[in-house]
Amino acid sequence: MPKKFVAEFQVVENIALNTTNFLIKVKAPSDLPEIKPGQFVNVEIPEAQDVFLRRPFSVFEVDYKANTLSMIVKILGKGSKRLTEIEVGSKLSLVYPLGKSFSYPQKNEKILLVGGGSGVAPMLFLAKESGLPAAQVDLILGARSQEDHVKVDEYAEYATLHYASEDGSLGEKGFVTQHSVFTTKLNAYDKIYACGPDGMMRALAKEAKAAGVFCEVSLENLMACGFGVCLCCIEPTNKGNLCVCTDGPVFNVNELKW
Ligand SMILES: Cc1cc2nc3c(=O)[nH]c(=O)nc-3n(C[C@H](O)[C@H](O)[C@H](O)COP(=O)(O)OP(=O)(O)OC[C@H]3O[C@@H](n4cnc5c(N)ncnc54)[C@H](O)[C@@H]3O)c2cc1C
Ligand code: FES
Repeated sequence: MPKKFVAEFQVVENIALNTTNFLIKVKAPSDLPEIKPGQFVNVEIPEAQDVFLRRPFSVFEVDYKANTLSMIVKILGKGSKRLTEIEVGSKLSLVYPLGKSFSYPQKNEKILLVGGGSGVAPMLFLAKESGLPAAQVDLILGARSQEDHVKVDEYAEYATLHYASEDGSLGEKGFVTQHSVFTTKLNAYDKIYACGPDGMMRALAKEAKAAGVFCEVSLENLMACGFGVCLCCIEPTNKGNLCVCTDGPVFNVNELKW
């Protein structure tokens, strides 16, 4: 098992990206190890007597020079809400880096990235890290409405951006799997990568399998320890029951019993 660390980080930024999503940047007390897209950190929620377990968050950005990493936290329940209220200068305990990353594409490949809800962060990280020109990377971002979408215009440098919203207020109306890029061009891609709500990934996996395209998804099963001890994140796969926190969270869809 790769080495894990637990340390107190200092919060250096907490920025509201919209009403429900916050960018939280934290500074490590010592040099960060290499962290790749799809890997996550397990965060202790401070001053929250009724939130006992750490909460996992995908890494969104890493700056090895500044020794910082960032997460995008979407308010869902008590833990995420409390985290978005954290003051700059406060300490946060993180276990890191956890899980396995997405596989990287080859230089000549064309890829499709699909991010829904809180699954946006690892997709943006992968777009930046893939090393491919934006013309070879399509990125579909899905949310309920324009208000729920995180602004990512600067990512046009790394990917061709497409939006879907359930109410049609930004981009095409409907789910990401109903977006015209998804419904008409699937066979044009060498690889598809996705992270988002369970229903979205199951629908996407079905289409990718039918089209015979390589597809990796990052699962967001509920977790506790984050490093393979409590067994509360089990996912049935063709290789047996696997821990999403250590064997994933990234899986090839052909491994999953979906
Ligand atoms: C590998 C991994 C990476 C993650 N990355 C991010 C990220 O980058 N940004 C982000 O905002 N969140 C991410 N999450 C989700 C996050 O860890 C928390 O689950 C989420 O913030 C809810 O915690 P809470 O304490 O606010 O809600 P809780 O009070 O625990 O739950 C509130 C409600 O939401 C439901 N719920 C909780 N977690 C989930 C979930 N994962 N999927 C569906 N329903 C759920 C609960 O059943 C409950 O009904 C990730 C999860 C995993 C496993
Ligand atoms: S969260 Fe404990 S084993 Fe995966």
